[in-house]
Amino acid sequence: MTRKSGTVAEPASAKAAQRCIMPECGAVYGIRERIYVCPKCGGPLEVDCQIAVAPDGGALRKVWESRGASREPRDASGVWRYRELLPFDDSAPFITLFEGNTPIYEAPRSAKYSGLEALRLKHQGCNPTGSFKDTGMCVAVTQALLLGARAVVCASTGNTAASLAAYAARAGLQPAILLPRGQISPAKLAQSMDYGALVCEIDGNFDDCMRLIQELGEDPSIYVANSINPFRIEGQKTVAFEMMNQCNWRVPDHVVVPGGNMGNSSALGKGFDELLALGLIPKLPKLSVIQAEGASPLARLFANLPPSAARAGSPLPESLPIEEHPRTLATAIKIGAPVSWKKALRAVLRSGGKIASVSEQEIADAKAVIGRDGIGCEPASATTVAGIKKLVAAGHIQRAESVIAVLTGHVLKDPDYVSAYHRGTLALETGAGSAPLQIRGAFRNAPMHVEASKSAILQLLDRQR
Ligand code: F0G
Repeated sequence: MTRKSGTVAEPASAKAAQRCIMPECGAVYGIRERIYVCPKCGGPLEVDCQIAVAPDGGALRKVWESRGASREPRDASGVWRYRELLPFDDSAPFITLFEGNTPIYEAPRSAKYSGLEALRLKHQGCNPTGSFKDTGMCVAVTQALLLGARAVVCASTGNTAASLAAYAARAGLQPAILLPRGQISPAKLAQSMDYGALVCEIDGNFDDCMRLIQELGEDPSIYVANSINPFRIEGQKTVAFEMMNQCNWRVPDHVVVPGGNMGNSSALGKGFDELLALGLIPKLPKLSVIQAEGASPLARLFANLPPSAARAGSPLPESLPIEEHPRTLATAIKIGAPVSWKKALRAVLRSGGKIASVSEQEIADAKAVIGRDGIGCEPASATTVAGIKKLVAAGHIQRAESVIAVLTGHVLKDPDYVSAYHRGTLALETGAGSAPLQIRGAFRNAPMHVEASKSAILQLLDRQR
């Protein structure tokens, strides 16, 4: 992003462009061109807002903070509030469900479990459709309207689909979603049906759906809303702005996120980079990404990077060895060929973070511990706390450092998983011929069949004390 001096509130759209992130290409395209990857070299694209801003950035901070108390819909949205850094002008038909504005909780039990003095959890599951996708979707759907698209489509493990379906309904666009049949939580599927999307269940996995989406995106009436779309990333980057605003601009030492298709980590990285470039924060938090072991192609690549390739600004590897048969009960991140891996790796290296993986048992137990803090999340979100525990043990995170984990989805997104864990029946199919992997619920809390009497209930309470 280019920094320029000027006034605070100049609209970003006038100078914004889409740019290929590959240093050897760097091709630049118009902000309203319907492209998803660089037409010249196939590299990932990102939006360069070329913001004009007061040199100290303080005025911009004040504008954003004052909007928090305003009732104007764009101010009330936790995304559009930051519109100086979004590539639209005031005439844009902005779409909102009042996304963002998500809480940051202190989580003392999760902190103790991870080996930290304190741990904060930013809960993106408190968005309108119950996941972090909403912060990106309001922006992608607004761009779809500006481009005159008829239909908006995505491949999804469930949350992108639910979010796209809702925002398309708000915008009067036709949503079509491609889901791997039988691999989506019924709660997420129900949302998409309710919001009126065309729900296509595909025989294959998420990565097969993603390949199909790239073909569909060639049709000019269709707009692709997966995180390969740089406008999704623009919306999701505002989570970094909101987080820093909530922290009174004091940068935590570490920010930890789950990794699937790698849009979220790319977006947070971009958000922090922009704040740093604008002088709104003095340093980057170390950004770490956690994958599920059975779907961890980027964690494996990261672990095998030679030291010369593992530094900020190192040239990115050409390709990512994909995971042909990703396996995890955290179905949201059951992805073997993440499309935004280059952007995510660049962000992690730039900030000095790590990419790691955690086991099914570790995810399940971390999820239950987060629950004991009174904070529900879906399994994919719990990779963060499980990953933090590992990174503390490995000495990458120090006990007294400040850490924020981003929880990405609401606990009710996957109630079957929660119930199976607590009843002791959670198991992962491991493939033909092998026995399923049974998850031991170390923090099991199964319902009890109790006699309908006061004394029986008091006895149970006594026993639990
Ligand atoms: N957590 C949840 C709850 C998710 O739904 C996803 C991705 C992720 C984490 C990973 O984020 O892909 O940006 O690295 N869900 C996508 C979907 C793939 O289709 O809903 P990512």
